[in-house]
Amino acid sequence: MKKRVAILISGRGSNMMALVEAMRARDYPAELAIIISSRPDAAGLAWAKAQGLPAKAIDHKAFASREAFDDAVHAALTEAGADLVALAGFMRIESAGFVRKWLGRQFNIHPALLPLFKGLQPHKQAIEAGVKVSGCTVHFVTEEMDSGPIVAQAAVPVLDEDTPKTLEARILEAEHKLYPHALALVASGRATLEGGRVVTRAAVREGGTLFSPQL
Ligand code: GRF
Repeated sequence: MKKRVAILISGRGSNMMALVEAMRARDYPAELAIIISSRPDAAGLAWAKAQGLPAKAIDHKAFASREAFDDAVHAALTEAGADLVALAGFMRIESAGFVRKWLGRQFNIHPALLPLFKGLQPHKQAIEAGVKVSGCTVHFVTEEMDSGPIVAQAAVPVLDEDTPKTLEARILEAEHKLYPHALALVASGRATLEGGRVVTRAAVREGGTLFSPQL
């Protein structure tokens, strides 16, 4: 039985597109339940509708409180029969109650190697810190932002001439591969939460050291 996945977005939705593409494969362990955008004008929502995918806006501005918005999202997720929730550029902080309802079933992608560079402008943070390697992280969502158990990570070099924009583009390319991979690990039961950490029964490349600058 395929897991049913809901994708929550607020913007351009390139990670959503990567997940949707992956879910089109017959042997992929997850299928799309619904796409929900917190903004009616999100480019990603227009794309999803044009593709004929189940997608709708739940406009956060139409709700008096965070909790009321989260209740509407929860109702839509339940109605769509979602088993898992993938945040993909979803720009809302969730209430503690919502996080608790989806604990262990909701994940997010962040464009940095967590626990470094949490929060806003992670690419700028990475460049200012002078790190030579950055990347992206898929993690379970917990109440503390960008802090849940890590499912998978991808590393990319940071170049001397990088700007936040060029680093963002390099990391985004990695995100589009990492997110479908991480979702497949969770949906197929190969990645599980054990004692606050994620255990993966997946291949890890031996000797796969990334040197930056190169050797
Ligand atoms: C991505 O960089 C993701 O890591 C971060 O927000 C961005 C969303 O981009 N959480 P997109 O909407 O998926 O194109």
